[in-house]
Amino acid sequence: MTSDKLELIKRIREESLKSSEDIKDIKSLDAFRVKYLGRKSEISDLLSSLKDLSIEERRNLGPEAQKLKKDLEDIVAFKSKELGGESADMGIDITRPGKRQKLGALHPLTKICREMCDIFTGLNFSVVEGPEMETEHYNFDALNIPEDHPAREMWDTFWIKGKKGERKSRFLMRTHTSPVQIRYMETHEPPFQIVVPGRVFRYEAIDASHEINFYQLEGLMVGKDISLANFKFVIEEFFRRFFNERVEYRLRPSYFPFVEPGVEVDIKFRGKWLEVLGAGMVHPKVLEAAHLNPRDLTGFAFGMGVERMAMIKYNIPDIRMFYSNDLRFLKQF
Ligand code: DAH
Repeated sequence: MTSDKLELIKRIREESLKSSEDIKDIKSLDAFRVKYLGRKSEISDLLSSLKDLSIEERRNLGPEAQKLKKDLEDIVAFKSKELGGESADMGIDITRPGKRQKLGALHPLTKICREMCDIFTGLNFSVVEGPEMETEHYNFDALNIPEDHPAREMWDTFWIKGKKGERKSRFLMRTHTSPVQIRYMETHEPPFQIVVPGRVFRYEAIDASHEINFYQLEGLMVGKDISLANFKFVIEEFFRRFFNERVEYRLRPSYFPFVEPGVEVDIKFRGKWLEVLGAGMVHPKVLEAAHLNPRDLTGFAFGMGVERMAMIKYNIPDIRMFYSNDLRFLKQF
């Protein structure tokens, strides 16, 4: 019995040594491995039959069988190296350190936008969004900027191509987030207070402080007896929470067609006054365009540039950094 098996081991050894000389590529190596080391190989049968033998026989055969298996594995490993590769299922080294998966992060503008919205939510404002492609009506007319009004010149616009024969359609990429004021007022009963974060588009030359697309945060509060004093409180509180300190700011009279009176707000930054937002009391014509009665209701509105605020808070010198996808910049947030 034992001698039979020893004979078998000897035979496998000789046969395999001989056939190992024919290994010339991965394919023949794999065939060799399957034949001599596979689950259905003779050596595998032999090893699993050991358990049925007497202790004595096992002592005799076990080490021989194990040694043959080890030698066969060495042949496979050697040939595999020689062929400059590893055969299909021997290629995984589970002791190798794993590859670290790189985790992405939110873009600084997304973070800052959310931070701003959080502050306003804390002041009881709701966060609302609107479409990036707008109609001429919402972007201009309803905001008291009629077709021939010189104020349209303030916004260089990307028009959506018209149908054949038309020079332009009535659609455009919104130049500001103000159209959402109208959309919201048309569908909600005052009193309410909202902020509208979003992307806006302008056809302009790009430089350190101008981009063809950027982000704005619009604000609107409408109700009975709302006044600029309410606006002053809200914006001062916002600045205090956003910059984590009391900032010096001032209101300056200004003109926007959709407010009356209109103001611009500057904040003092490194000893210089910087304009950060436009605001004012919602123009009666704007309330009317949204089917609200200006005799019963008043409101304030404001619009600020998100990049502008981030640039001041984090001392960022160039607006283009937000859009250049440079990890050295992005990783700092
Ligand atoms: N929409 C203006 C712009 O893009 C900013 C603005 C000014 C918004 C005054 C307002 C406002 O709501 O009252 O320049």
